[in-house]
Amino acid sequence: MNDVQRYGPWALVTGASDGIGRALSQHLAAQGLNVVLVARWRDALATLAADLSAAHSVQTNVLAVDLADPAGVTVVEEQTRTMDIGIVVLAAGFGTTGTVLETSADEESALVAVNVTAVMRLAHTFASRLVSRGTGALVLFGSIVGWQGVPGQANYAASKAYVQSLAEGLHGELRPFGVDVLAVAPGPVGSGFGPRAGLDLGSATSPDTVARSTLAALGRRRTVVPGLQGTFLTAALRPLPRRLRSAILSRVIAGMRLRSSASRPAAEQTLGCRHGG
Ligand SMILES: NC(=O)c1ccc[n+]([C@@H]2O[C@H](COP(=O)([O-])OP(=O)(O)OC[C@H]3O[C@@H](n4cnc5c(N)ncnc54)[C@H](OP(=O)(O)O)[C@@H]3O)[C@@H](O)[C@H]2O)c1
Repeated sequence: MNDVQRYGPWALVTGASDGIGRALSQHLAAQGLNVVLVARWRDALATLAADLSAAHSVQTNVLAVDLADPAGVTVVEEQTRTMDIGIVVLAAGFGTTGTVLETSADEESALVAVNVTAVMRLAHTFASRLVSRGTGALVLFGSIVGWQGVPGQANYAASKAYVQSLAEGLHGELRPFGVDVLAVAPGPVGSGFGPRAGLDLGSATSPDTVARSTLAALGRRRTVVPGLQGTFLTAALRPLPRRLRSAILSRVIAGMRLRSSASRPAAEQTLGCRHGG
């Protein structure tokens, strides 16, 4: 059992309204850490905050912001300035599916804003703060699709390649200052991610499994691939030439694609319901 209380008293989790971020928030609160919960879906964050306070007697703080908007990132930086945050989990992110001829440039730009720009900005801000306090942890979310280009998910895979590389670099930069950096590279996970990306991920790994693997690896590993599917796919693909890995993952993604709808309408429906848009 990895004792994450050493990073306390506060944790910040982006993407806390659903999936992996929500599961990690639950695990961190269960270990007694107070949590700052960040995402757009205010009702889900408020419900989670109430549940965590009641179950674990921890303090919570809800920041309902859009991380695609630089102003949303600034709100997170400003509202947490005086808090003693020791662990930062940057799980907010989303995927799209379809070729460059099918996808929307606006949606792909939003993807880069959330998956890349907001992650870089928050990692930068919190790296300084964690170094100042002399200890801490930073958790970034890549993906197994980030280890090669993937036709049919080109921009999403590229965003995850960026995050993996960023995490590896920060791991080396911050380690001498007592700050642990972990890259998490899941395979398919059963969460809101699949429906939003227009994918049926089938019998995917649970967010709870990803959360457990993440916290077990924190401070011990540079990268963790949680879950059986991710581990199997990684082991099977690793020896292959990069172009072959691209071709295989492209076929895998095409096979998961929901026939009834492309990712954009599915995303709009989900977000419209959640955020009253
Ligand atoms: N699920 C998978 O198969 C899989 C595989 C590999 C990597 N990953 C990565 O793991 C991370 C977590 O994914 P997940 O599976 O937990 O997906 P999820 O269930 O869809 O959760 C994504 C979270 O990100 C938040 N988010 C999305 N857009 C946002 C925005 N513009 N501003 C603020 N928050 C935003 C969502 O909250 P709101 O909608 O409330 O804003 C939600 O809390 C992501 O970075 C994803 O790329 C997932």
